[in-house]
Amino acid sequence: MTSPADRKQEQRQGFRADDPAGGPLTTDQGVEVDHTDDSLTVGDRGPTLMEDFHFREKLTHFDHERTPERVVHARGAGAYGYFEPYESCAEFTRAAFLQDPSVRTPVFVRFSTVQGPKGSADTVRDVRGFATKFYTSEGNYDLVGNNFPVFFIQDGIKFPDFVHALKPEPHNDIPTGASAHDTLWDFVSLQPETLHAIMWLMSDRAIPRSYRMMQGFGVHTFRFVNADGKGTFVKFHWKPKLGVHSLVWDEAQECQGRDPDFNRRDLWDAIEAGEYPEWELGVQLVPEEDEFAFDFDLLDATKIIPEEQVPVRPIGRMVLDRNPENFFAETEQVAFHTANVVPGIDFTNDPLLQARNFSYLDTQLIRLGGPNFSQLPVNHPVAPVRTNQRDGYHQSALHSGTNYFPNSLGGGCPAHAGADGSAYTHYAERVDGAKIRRRSESFKDHHSQAAMFWNSMADWEKQHIVEAFRFELGKVGAMTVRTRTVDELGKVDPELATQVAAGIGVPAPERDESVTHKLTSPALSLESLRGGGS
Ligand code: HEM
Repeated sequence: MTSPADRKQEQRQGFRADDPAGGPLTTDQGVEVDHTDDSLTVGDRGPTLMEDFHFREKLTHFDHERTPERVVHARGAGAYGYFEPYESCAEFTRAAFLQDPSVRTPVFVRFSTVQGPKGSADTVRDVRGFATKFYTSEGNYDLVGNNFPVFFIQDGIKFPDFVHALKPEPHNDIPTGASAHDTLWDFVSLQPETLHAIMWLMSDRAIPRSYRMMQGFGVHTFRFVNADGKGTFVKFHWKPKLGVHSLVWDEAQECQGRDPDFNRRDLWDAIEAGEYPEWELGVQLVPEEDEFAFDFDLLDATKIIPEEQVPVRPIGRMVLDRNPENFFAETEQVAFHTANVVPGIDFTNDPLLQARNFSYLDTQLIRLGGPNFSQLPVNHPVAPVRTNQRDGYHQSALHSGTNYFPNSLGGGCPAHAGADGSAYTHYAERVDGAKIRRRSESFKDHHSQAAMFWNSMADWEKQHIVEAFRFELGKVGAMTVRTRTVDELGKVDPELATQVAAGIGVPAPERDESVTHKLTSPALSLESLRGGGS
């Protein structure tokens, strides 16, 4: 019997192109070609003929080989593997892939950098994407995470502003300064909700030594729903078996020069060598009754739930054991989407998550050329797909019958009767309120957790953070931006601000007595988040 984890591999065989070594060269129409080195011309030295269909097809295809790169996370590396739960999670979720330890679910994972284009170097200071597609028996589930547990903004409506500030300048596509952006630091200093994630970005976590040695986080608070319809808040964590390891800045710089593919080569080589990378999936579970038990808002993606308050519970492991066969077809064309959920996993009202649930499908419609990209091999579910959707660019399925509902003439997909309870039902959360365009008061503390992160660092880690701030801010041309950023850092920690200021030629800020931190206890350090490495 086929193991469920092999189903994706078998399905991929069905998409395989005809064996190129199996016969002579043909055109796209299957007509054999006798000669592909010279175009059809009039005489020895005459013009090329329009009727040379082989020449025109070959050139035209080449001219259209590029598709747009992702607007963020353009550079990535991917691999296939499997996930298996340690035990049934039925108490909290009815998701089929989290029920039976003997069932392996196939996965595809893509790791990425965020800011740089497709051809940029791997070992830059940046967030890393950690996106996992589970090909479950109930349809695809995507956990589209990062290697930081917090994000830079609280509401997705700010995402275009944040990314425009992060990317090089619009007029010449060059960042201001040698490596830092005036625009990014301008944004950061004016938008203090970025501070917690910025602390992570200036730490060694932003230069992982290997994708195999990197944590992953779902970031948002999601919701598990069990078979009785009971909801539980959940945060997802991936912990690497090899521990968490970073490069130091000088190593990262050298790697960029010597091998810009350092991280993706490492992943590829390890899998080819049979050293399969492995991660443990853990969850922090919060009963719905405890929604307001924290001094931050669970819907605020700039906050972690300290593990001292809610321990991470290991629920399964993931192994990556197969490299893709074709970078473009698989790693490039894979389409992750936070809204790809399965029964038993649902959303919360986190405004960043809600925006993502719109944005991914929207961008993929243009990036992957129309509405049929779920038919591509890497995106195709192993679960059966029956829809009334038809036609559109790149339609490759041979549908038959009518395609509407209700339908008394035969054909068309019926609505799911739901009698066996297997259909997706949205969690019936009660919501009430006036329409407002305003950030909740519960989202307004931007400094406590940034300070908690700083306080959890060893002295040498603090030193690396100070040096990173000095390096980045020291390249910012606008002194007002340097000063304003250091002022904000003063609200995180006066000593941090003083040390950074001393290195970049701006005055240390006055202590701001109005700023108080809610989570300064050393007991709330992030020690347990470190995953065992340095
Ligand atoms: C791509 C993570 C926030 C829009 C990605 C990817 C990851 C990711 C891992 C790369 C997926 C791949 O490998 O193909 C995150 C995380 C976020 C976040 C963890 C915050 C917690 C946002 C927000 C938006 C957004 C707020 C917009 C409102 C996009 C877009 C892409 C992308 C447009 C490109 C997708 C594609 O072309 O396929 N994100 N992201 N992200 N993200 Fe996010």
